[in-house]
Amino acid sequence: MDSILVVHYSLSGVSRRVAQLLASHHGWPLGTIEDRRPRVGLRGTWRCVLDSLLDRQPRIRYRGPVPEEFRTVVLVAPIWMYRLAAPMRSFLHEHRLRRVAVVVTMGSAGASNAFAEVHRITGKAPVATLALTAHEVESGSGTGRLIEMGLRLRPGHATVHQDAAGHALAPPAAGARPR
Ligand SMILES: Cc1cc2nc3c(=O)[nH]c(=O)nc-3n(C[C@H](O)[C@H](O)[C@H](O)COP(=O)(O)O)c2cc1C
Repeated sequence: MDSILVVHYSLSGVSRRVAQLLASHHGWPLGTIEDRRPRVGLRGTWRCVLDSLLDRQPRIRYRGPVPEEFRTVVLVAPIWMYRLAAPMRSFLHEHRLRRVAVVVTMGSAGASNAFAEVHRITGKAPVATLALTAHEVESGSGTGRLIEMGLRLRPGHATVHQDAAGHALAPPAAGARPR
């Protein structure tokens, strides 16, 4: 099936907004990753930090279409401690995806580590990557690049990798270690 699914995890709503915008603009279905143990207050934030530092795979619940039935899955998640948010790591270990694109949201840094981690876990380089700061999402200044990335995922388009400033990047290396 030549089809695209958007799967997201979001703690405070920024990545959710990105995923909803991408899915609704292109008419793609949306899947949601939720924590089985909610992250509430300071303790919840501290668990985010530990999950990242200890490379943990927290228990998650996925709600949405079966990801394996789609040709391409667009993953949308925040950066925690310069790494991919841990619930998305759990999702990647639980599913065998054929082709992935990755959108991360962040304060300012850590995207390249997350792209490299997706490559390592899936064994495939993402066909497209995009890093957006939370400010770019909230102000709407990143919307153009997000929609453009989606357009390029459609059959017949080249792959695209961009940093937070919209500059083209080389695809992430599979063996790269988090900084
Ligand atoms: C525990 C934690 C760690 C974070 N670490 C980073 C980081 O290393 N680099 C960064 O740029 N932003 C970091 N952030 C900011 C988030 O990546 C950013 O606010 C993101 O857009 C939040 O997405 P969400 O609303 O979908 O959860 C961190 C946020 C949290 C809660």
